[in-house]
Amino acid sequence: MSPEPWSPKSWTSKPIKQDVVYDDDEGVQLALGKLEKLPPLVTTQEITNLKKSLKNVALGKAFVLQGGDCAELFDYCNQDMIEAKVKLLLQMSLVLIWGANIPVVRIARIAGQFAKPRSSPMEVIDGIEMPSFRGDNINGFDATPESRRPDPSRLVSAYFHSAATLNYLRASLSSGLADLHSPLDWGLGHVVTPSIKEKYERIVNRVKDALRFMQTVGIDTDRGVETVDVYTSHEGLLLEYETSLIRLLKDPIPAATTPSSTTTTTTTPSKSYYATSSHFLWIGDRTRQLTGAHVEFFRGITNPIGIKIGPSMSPQDLITLLDTVNPTHEIGKVTLISRYGASHIATHLPAHIAAVQQSAHLPVWQCDPMHGNTQSTPSGIKTRHFSDILSELRQALEIHRAAGSWLGGMHLELTGESVTECVGGAGGLTEEGLGERYTTFCDPRLNEKQALELAFLVAGFYREMEVEGGGGGLNSI
Ligand code: PEP
Ligand code: CO
Repeated sequence: MSPEPWSPKSWTSKPIKQDVVYDDDEGVQLALGKLEKLPPLVTTQEITNLKKSLKNVALGKAFVLQGGDCAELFDYCNQDMIEAKVKLLLQMSLVLIWGANIPVVRIARIAGQFAKPRSSPMEVIDGIEMPSFRGDNINGFDATPESRRPDPSRLVSAYFHSAATLNYLRASLSSGLADLHSPLDWGLGHVVTPSIKEKYERIVNRVKDALRFMQTVGIDTDRGVETVDVYTSHEGLLLEYETSLIRLLKDPIPAATTPSSTTTTTTTPSKSYYATSSHFLWIGDRTRQLTGAHVEFFRGITNPIGIKIGPSMSPQDLITLLDTVNPTHEIGKVTLISRYGASHIATHLPAHIAAVQQSAHLPVWQCDPMHGNTQSTPSGIKTRHFSDILSELRQALEIHRAAGSWLGGMHLELTGESVTECVGGAGGLTEEGLGERYTTFCDPRLNEKQALELAFLVAGFYREMEVEGGGGGLNSI
C-alpha cells in the first residue's frame, strides 16, 4: 500500500498531542507569515554533511555526542553560555575520541530547544490555576496567568534567538573557539577522591600529549584541526513553527567520485523538503504515535531525525515507525534515542535491538540516560543520580555489544555552568546541596564537571571493551 501524499502541512489533518492552543489566531498567522519569508537557519550542505557523519555512526565507524539544556531560554543566548557549552562538548568529545578511538560527531541541543512537552497543560501555583510553562517560544516562565498565556510573537523571537546563537556559534568556531591548540581548562580540583583524580589526570595528559604530537608533526594543520563541526538540534514539537521553516531546496550535488564525473554538469539537481530550523530534529517520547501529527510531519523531511523510545514502545511498533519515517531504509537517517531508566533498560532494549536487526533498518543507536532516571527528593526537587545515569549507559553498551549491535552515541542534558541539579559524581554533590545553584527551567542537567566525568567514564568503558574497527584516535577529529 503506497503512503498518502505528504506535504509540509499534511500533519494538520492528523490527531496531535501536546498541541498549543492560542487565543490570538490573527497573531499566529502574522508570526507564521513572517517566518515563512525568513532565510533558512541552516544549509542543505550542512544537513547533508551531518547525514553522512551519522551514516558512519550507524555503521560503527563513529560516535555521536549530543547534549545541552533540557529547555533553552532566550536568555541563554549570550556569549559566555554559548562558549561554555561548546567548549564542554569539545572537551567531552576529545575524551571520547581517546577512549573509543574513533571520530566523534558533536550535536548540541542549542539554537532552538525552546518548546517542551508537559505532563499536564495546566498547573496550580499559590492557589491560582494557569497554563504550565511550555518553553520560551510558547509562553513565559513567570507564574502569572498573563505570562503563561501562549504568545504568538514568541515564535518570531525564537527564530531570532536561534539565529543569534547560531551566528555566534559559527563565528566563534571559525575564529578558533574550538582551536585545539589553545589550552583548555580541565579543572579537576573538585574531585575529592585522590585515586579518581589521578585516573582523570592520566586521561587528560594522554589527550594533551596526543594533541601536542599532532601539532609537532603537523598532522593538525594538514587536516584542519584548527576548528571542528558542531551541529544544532532540538525537539520538533511545535509543528506550526517547524512548518513555517520548511523549505523546498536543491539537494547538494554529491562530491565527484571519479575524475570523469567532474565534467558531467548537465544533470538538474533534485529538490527536497528540508526543515531549516536546525540540522537535526527529534520526536519526543510523548508525540511519537504512529498515526499522529508529529510522525506525519517527520516522514517528509530530508534531515536526519531522532526518535525517543521508552518502555511504552513495542518492538513491532518500532519497526512500523521506522518503515513510516524511513521507507527507503537510508542508513543512519534515524537515530533511535533510547531512554528507559537504569532499572528498565535490561527489560526493553534487547527486544528493540532484536526487532531492528530482523528488519531492513540500520539506525544510529543512542542512549539517553537522563529521561528514564528523573526522580524527586523527599522535599520535592526534581533530580537525577549520576550513578543511575552511568548505570544506564554502561548497560546500554553491554547489551548492544552482547547483541552484536553498535551503541553509537549518548544524548545528555548538560550545561557548561556549575549548577547543582543532579546528585553524585566525583564532586560528591548531595541532595542537601541541590538548592545552591538549581537553575533549570525544566529537567535537571549535569554540570560541567559531572558531564566531563561521564565522558571519562564512558571513554574508560570503551577502552575496557577494546572496541574494534576504530579510526585513528585523535587523528580522527
Ligand atoms: C527531552 O529530551 O527533553 C524530553 C522531553 O525527552 P523525552 O521525550 O524522552 O521525554
Ligand atoms: Co528533558
